[in-house]
Amino acid sequence: MTTRRRTAILISGRGTNMAALIEAARDPSYPAEIFLVISNIPTAKGLETAAAAGIKSLAVSHKDYLDKSMFEAALSYALNEAKIELICLAGFMRVLSANFVSHWTGRILNIHPSLLPAYRGLDTHKRVLADGMKEHGCTVHFVVSELDAGPIVAQATVPVIDGDTEESLSARVLIAENRLYPEALAKVAKAIAPL
Ligand code: GAR
Repeated sequence: MTTRRRTAILISGRGTNMAALIEAARDPSYPAEIFLVISNIPTAKGLETAAAAGIKSLAVSHKDYLDKSMFEAALSYALNEAKIELICLAGFMRVLSANFVSHWTGRILNIHPSLLPAYRGLDTHKRVLADGMKEHGCTVHFVVSELDAGPIVAQATVPVIDGDTEESLSARVLIAENRLYPEALAKVAKAIAPL
């Protein structure tokens, strides 16, 4: 029997991508199992969703630590305690240090709301509309110390439609994200060795 990679999801907010990963991993043949959800925002709606799905859910607020290295030490403690092998960032809005990221090289994924390498950073939908782009989308990539710059695992494209607002465009991209992330995690979880 093949084992499933023990996976943690880091969130900061509503957690629709997290919920899509949890749902996919309910299938026993899915190659990753979600063992832990951590939010740096204690009031994040995603924490409630994860707890309701029976997943161990923790708030680790960056505000409770003096600096980033202490915050990351708390994250590492929780990840190690749960014997995590793979991390998915899903709307996690803190930038992780090079030290943390290098420890997880090849085992930490992020989903970003643009067709990378275009539109790294924040406000992607607003910038795509301002530039008059006809296509937009989302990317799952490995996390490296440079923001939104790691190797790409999978992408999905959506059209920009005349009259789109930030809200309508982001809603269309989010549907694509929620489909793409479970596919991308499966691909990576199948490919990596157990820790
Ligand atoms: C998603 O659109 C995700 O791509 C984005 O935050 C949203 C989280 O939604 N992430 C980033 O912008 C990372 N820089 P969710 O909480 O419903 O998954």
